[in-house]
Amino acid sequence: MSENQKKDSYKIAWLPGDGIGIEVLEAAKIVLDRVNLNAEYIHGDIGWEFWRTEGDALPQRTIELLKNVDAAMFGAITSKPVKLAEEELIPELRGKGLVYRSPIVRMRQMFDLYICLRPCKSYPGNPLNYKENIDLVVFRENTEDLYSGVEFNPVPEELSETLRKISKPFSAFSSLSLGEYAISCKINTKKGSEKIIRAAFDYAKKFNRKKVTIVHKANVVRASDGLFLDVAKEVSKDYPEIIFDEANVDAMTMWLLKNPYNYDVLVAPNLYGDIISDLCAQMVGGLGFGCSGNIGEDLAVFEPTHGSAPKYAGLYKVNPIATILAAKMMLEWLGETEKAVLIEKATARVISEGKARTYDMGGNSTTLEIATEIANKI
Ligand code: IPM
Ligand code: MG
Repeated sequence: MSENQKKDSYKIAWLPGDGIGIEVLEAAKIVLDRVNLNAEYIHGDIGWEFWRTEGDALPQRTIELLKNVDAAMFGAITSKPVKLAEEELIPELRGKGLVYRSPIVRMRQMFDLYICLRPCKSYPGNPLNYKENIDLVVFRENTEDLYSGVEFNPVPEELSETLRKISKPFSAFSSLSLGEYAISCKINTKKGSEKIIRAAFDYAKKFNRKKVTIVHKANVVRASDGLFLDVAKEVSKDYPEIIFDEANVDAMTMWLLKNPYNYDVLVAPNLYGDIISDLCAQMVGGLGFGCSGNIGEDLAVFEPTHGSAPKYAGLYKVNPIATILAAKMMLEWLGETEKAVLIEKATARVISEGKARTYDMGGNSTTLEIATEIANKI
């Protein structure tokens, strides 16, 4: 992860997206304004409306914007399955073979935002904490694995034939005709695995973390997860001061719940990281607290982990803390550590005082009231 130097001013792409993405970003802005970040916030179009009317939820103009900013804040986007997505296109765009792909996944791949950093920390006094004093950090590989987008349904004839010739263990192939099975490729490269594993160890070293746990399923998924684990064993040799630990992802979910204090930094291939990070987020308060940084060498996009929650859209009811903590992560990445600390401390105070709480925490404060409370404590 690059060590950014503070700058006099920043350009931040501001991508609210859909649904509650809009209101949680509004909340984050209240807090960012209070720490006086000298930044130009540039709006970028992204989301369902642009899919419907332009056939692209991440229009080219937004991609160009992302090439010219220091960082981005992203709200949330509505995603729908491919068939439903096509039905919602305006009539002129239907039948053209346009395929909906998640814009956040595309951003991650397009800009090589190979780190998905998801800190999961229980702030004292949060009634939603599973246990107090949880402080885990998930490093999720963010561009490869089952997210590679190499998928077939139906499976093309030539691929099917090749597989039939070379795949012994899965005998069902030989009796299936085309259209009766689908394939999603789990692709893990040595380079990609090494980058995320190194990022996790470097982070552990920098922040005096004791242990890095590699999450995998190498006992069954021997090729791709085997590679991930082998790379991890190699990389760990460069960090003798940090405890190397590894676990199968299924067992990991049980152990995490049983004793979260046994873990410190976790690193996982994309899909396991997606799953494990939701579990960890739930232990520290759930959707309203899960924050995320998609980080590359030149660009980073920060977001709450939650989705666009259409049923709450426009009600200003949802908890903005995940997004405010994502803004705090952005400040850290920009090198604005003091400002990040101010935001984190103020957020922790609002949580522990418990006077202003959104509905998920048992209160009835609005999204913007929470943001204002936090801003007032800075
Ligand atoms: C996440 C989300 C995304 C993912 C979805 C919205 C594509 O679940 O950021 O964890 O699967 O990565
Ligand atoms: Mg997820």
